[in-house]
Amino acid sequence: MPENLLKGKKGIITGALDENSIAWKTALKAKEQGAKFVLTNAPIAMRMGAINELAKECDTIVIPADATSVEDLEKLYDEAKEYLGGNFDFLLHSIGMSPNIRKGRAYGDLNYDWAMKSYDVSAVSFHKMMQVAEKKDIMNEWGSIVGLSYIAAQRVFPFYTDMADAKALLESIARGFGYRFGKSKKVRVNTISQSPTVTTAGSGIGGFDAFYNFADSVSPLGNASAEACAEYIVSLFSDFTRMVTMQNLYHDGGYSNTGISEEIMEKFSDKK
Ligand SMILES: NC(=O)c1ccc[n+]([C@@H]2O[C@H](COP(=O)([O-])OP(=O)(O)OC[C@H]3O[C@@H](n4cnc5c(N)ncnc54)[C@H](O)[C@@H]3O)[C@@H](O)[C@H]2O)c1
Repeated sequence: MPENLLKGKKGIITGALDENSIAWKTALKAKEQGAKFVLTNAPIAMRMGAINELAKECDTIVIPADATSVEDLEKLYDEAKEYLGGNFDFLLHSIGMSPNIRKGRAYGDLNYDWAMKSYDVSAVSFHKMMQVAEKKDIMNEWGSIVGLSYIAAQRVFPFYTDMADAKALLESIARGFGYRFGKSKKVRVNTISQSPTVTTAGSGIGGFDAFYNFADSVSPLGNASAEACAEYIVSLFSDFTRMVTMQNLYHDGGYSNTGISEEIMEKFSDKK
């Protein structure tokens, strides 16, 4: 295991809701690798209380912020800068939510107010995090910003509905802001396209078990776990990936480049 990959680095980790969250695992890995960071989540998620246990374990604080509120983000950055004693080397956007999915609305029957909420929470908030960071000039040179995506941005997964459009927007924002931040501060911006993962956001999607098992059978390495994703995120925050930017990086055990696997062929072999 590598050691101290993030020694001396400071940052912000959004989205740790409970111990299954990708952000939760990332916080533990980042701490293990020597980073100092502040945790944040929407005020409503704070009520669950679990994030305070994580903060204790990571020897840090939690600053509530709704990632769709520019005002909250400004306050978050100011307070985090004071607590950490300097500007940031990394930001993790690990945020997603769709009221249409929560309420079982089909893609042909979207409630558009809710769809706007999905896009704002799951994608535009990534832009807001970066715009506020740029305006405050709060990123250190050669810093790294990561968001989390899903392959439904490229291919149709019928039950992913408006989140697929949100992820396509998120990936586009990573390219658009990656260009700006690369030019101005040598800061890189990437999205990681993660395997289906058993978390609150993941398993809330209709048919999750089926597409989790399907992806696991197709991928030569099997589905990537939340912990493996955390390790990949840490590598992207480290100095070993300094020239990687504006990319959507598949972290999916090979799923995205596999047409069919023997396991799936066997399942369908007796069908004419
Ligand atoms: N679980 C999967 O199968 C999977 C696969 C690919 C990508 N992802 C992405 O990974 C990211 C993290 O999700 P997860 O799977 O760890 O689930 P999770 O439910 O643990 O995390 C989602 C987080 O978003 C936070 N959030 C929601 N609205 C917010 C707001 N307005 N402001 C701030 N935070 C808000 C929630 O409180 C929660 O902590 C999401 O972008 C998700 O779409 C998940």
